Amino acid sequence: MNNDATTDLQKFLNEVASRVTASAQILFDSQPKTAGSLEAAMRYSVFNGGKRLRPALIYATCQALGGTWVAADAPALALELVHCYSLVHDDLPCMDDDDLRRGMPTCHRQFDSEALALLAGDSLQSLAFLQLTQAPHLTDAHCLLMLKYLSQAALDMARGQSLDLLAENAPVTLAALENIHRLKTGALMAASMVLGALAAGILNPDTLEALHELGNLLGLCFQVQDDILNVSGSTESLGKRTGSDQHLGKSTYPQLLGLKAAQELRQQLHTDAFALLQKLQLDTPLLHQLTRFLVFRDW
Ligand code: IPE
Ligand code: IPE
Ligand code: MG
Ligand code: MG
Repeated sequence: MNNDATTDLQKFLNEVASRVTASAQILFDSQPKTAGSLEAAMRYSVFNGGKRLRPALIYATCQALGGTWVAADAPALALELVHCYSLVHDDLPCMDDDDLRRGMPTCHRQFDSEALALLAGDSLQSLAFLQLTQAPHLTDAHCLLMLKYLSQAALDMARGQSLDLLAENAPVTLAALENIHRLKTGALMAASMVLGALAAGILNPDTLEALHELGNLLGLCFQVQDDILNVSGSTESLGKRTGSDQHLGKSTYPQLLGLKAAQELRQQLHTDAFALLQKLQLDTPLLHQLTRFLVFRDW
């Protein structure tokens, strides 16, 4: 990527991050105060950095299809809240047992309470759906479809997470691993592209289906890279522990194929994703750059 493209993408990602922060702030401020630390744990799990890539996909898709920033605010926040919930639960001792996330202690570590982290995750998910129903810029028809795609994606993500746990220290085929990655990570990315299109007013089922396929493929590439970074990245730049997959006996692409073949597969998947972008006439400079970043990021 040339320097201009990197700067454009960085500017876009900064704008996305500040919009997500602003709308999350308004949402949390509108909620009733409860005794105890539940609200603090929810805020902690959202305002702790994060690349905000699912919102970025939503905004970029919405704009590529003629929609506005403001139309995508509610779905972008919804997706990010579901993603944050998935991370809080993913880090729990009963799942990946991680102590570092986005360069900070994981939620259950910070608050020294697994119960609180569990409830914070549950609450973030419910709040994601609730705020979508209250979005001022969506028609009822669009809102209903967004709820449908988002709830299906959250369900698929949980299915993928359960298969991921089942595949610890167990032999899996390449096809089974692809299925896990498409579910645990691809599902939310697929929903991001679909919600971005819905925010732009698109209702054509064939277009939504094609975007779903593309988003799912991007999620697969993204997770292949996540596996690669767990082996070859640094804890410092990623803000999460490297080497943890091997420690837990996770089934990953580098573990199954070796690092070099996993890198080659990542390249092939990126080529496939780019071809799909072109086929859908969605290869705006921004989506092109974002796709590249999703697949070849080093943090
Ligand atoms: C991490 O996702 C979880 C995976 C699905 C691999 P991100 O890398 O998007 O995490 P944040 O939001 O930037 O922390
Ligand atoms: C995370 O997968 C997927 C979800 C949270 C749904 P991983 O467990 O591989 O991701 P990291 O490495 O903890 O971010
Ligand atoms: Mg996991
Ligand atoms: Mg994990």
